[in-house]
Amino acid sequence: MRERADSSALLEWYDRHARAMPWRVPPHDRKAGVVPDPYRVWMSEIMLQQTTVAAVKSFFEAFTQRWPTVTDLANAEDADVMAEWAGLGYYARARNLLKCARVVANDYDGKFPDDHDTLLTLPGVGPYTAAAVSSIAFDRPETVVDGNVERVMARLYDEHTPLPNAKPILTEYARDLTPDERPGDYAQAVMDLGATICTPRNPACGLCPWRKSCAAWENGTAAELPKKAPK
Ligand code: ADE
Repeated sequence: MRERADSSALLEWYDRHARAMPWRVPPHDRKAGVVPDPYRVWMSEIMLQQTTVAAVKSFFEAFTQRWPTVTDLANAEDADVMAEWAGLGYYARARNLLKCARVVANDYDGKFPDDHDTLLTLPGVGPYTAAAVSSIAFDRPETVVDGNVERVMARLYDEHTPLPNAKPILTEYARDLTPDERPGDYAQAVMDLGATICTPRNPACGLCPWRKSCAAWENGTAAELPKKAPK
């Protein structure tokens, strides 16, 4: 009999296996009361939109060393920010980064708003980034769905509807599992599970904390999920 998936099994796994990232507060420190810097969370999420974690790290370090606060970034010259961004690509992100920094510095006294709806009004912040920042930086129970999360949910529930039609279904599964306790760690735990265990090819199901709850594991379908509509 399959067990119901629950966030605590995943959070216990995350406590032991969270990937270290320069913008992340490790779960042990988070429990001890260290809070993430919303500026760093926001910047990392903008950079990670179309770029891998490995490629983002050095750019993130360079930006946050040069401009340690959102007000520092707001006061930067446009040309300096564009030059520092060179190599990351998708330059609209850099222009919006600067616009957003100036709105936060001028209209919000240099403090990022802590709720999803206000975050959504900021330049360059769409539903994904608003959910990620409110969840990771402010521990709000928002549902963060990226490609990793879609894959994990498609497998956990053996959902064969092809993407993109599956997106609202997979989002609902992810929302259902989002806990009120530690929602920020939970969001990052699903991403890490997707990146390190529930990988697109050769998933390491033997190491997965959700294996006993996974319908695709039970049915032997993990390798074919998520389905994608033919282009
Ligand atoms: N991809 C996008 N945001 C991420 C995060 N906070 N942790 C890991 N991977 C991510």
